[in-house]
Amino acid sequence: MISVRNIHKSFGGIHAVDDCSIEVKRGTITGLIGPNGAGKTTLFTIITGFIKPDAGQVLLEDRDITGLKPHQLFDRGLVRTFQIPHEFNGLTSLENLMVVPAAQDGENLLKAWFMPGAVAQREAEVLVQAEETLAFLGLEQVRDVLAGNLSGGQKKLVELGRAMMSGAQMILLDEPGAGVNPTLLNQLGEKIQRLNSERGITFCIIEHNMDMIARLCDPVIVMASGTVLTSGVMEDIRKDERVLEAYLGSSETGDPA
Ligand SMILES: Nc1ncnc2c1ncn2[C@@H]1O[C@H](COP(=O)(O)OP(=O)(O)OP(=O)(O)O)[C@@H](O)[C@H]1O
Ligand SMILES: [Mg+2]
Repeated sequence: MISVRNIHKSFGGIHAVDDCSIEVKRGTITGLIGPNGAGKTTLFTIITGFIKPDAGQVLLEDRDITGLKPHQLFDRGLVRTFQIPHEFNGLTSLENLMVVPAAQDGENLLKAWFMPGAVAQREAEVLVQAEETLAFLGLEQVRDVLAGNLSGGQKKLVELGRAMMSGAQMILLDEPGAGVNPTLLNQLGEKIQRLNSERGITFCIIEHNMDMIARLCDPVIVMASGTVLTSGVMEDIRKDERVLEAYLGSSETGDPA
């Protein structure tokens, strides 16, 4: 589905991504792991159009999407989840979901003038979809709570909900488990699995929590020093001495656990 070919990206003298090529196959939950500073987030940022690579190509379904802007990729069903934007902390969980398709429609003022009925109908549909999404995520009880007051794990679930509301076919998650308590982490993992198996959504997940990666992801790609060290099933990766060395050699914070 996504094919990354020979990507290079430097910041000053640092080769953040250095001749990196990866494939994310449709229908998979692909894991992307590697020590701190390996270039994982930079690669995601390039794939989703927030920065341009110095060299290399990104293909989505065999179409070259290198250099396209995030909103253009959004329209093609590719999204990366973010923390809930600051300005949305003052909106409820429900409202945070409802604004996603509205932004997509461009809140067309002309349409509102000439087709008020159609706009009202669309709003009603979006409300139903947002309610269904909250139910799917088990967030009904925080429907009307301001996003700024949600727990860290609940925020992650709302972020996933925002990705669902966009109709994305491919979702990139950067460390969804960071700062999430074990119970909510299990819930988050279960929702990702269901979205994958029931709705066919493809995921690529960066994560330092190896239990989560082992439970959800096949295959797993290991990055180190800006490029791919190895890839395969987690069982084999676990036994690969080069992977352990990369983690140990990276830094004092390189503990993979
Ligand atoms: N905007 C930037 N300006 C300068 N250097 C950057 C920038 N973004 C990333 N880097 C550097 O590029 C390298 C790769 O960083 P990146 O954030 O992609 O790593 P990562 O694999 O996501 O690490 P972590 O697991 O700690 O999140 C690091 O050395 C980082 O300091
Ligand atoms: Mg990162």
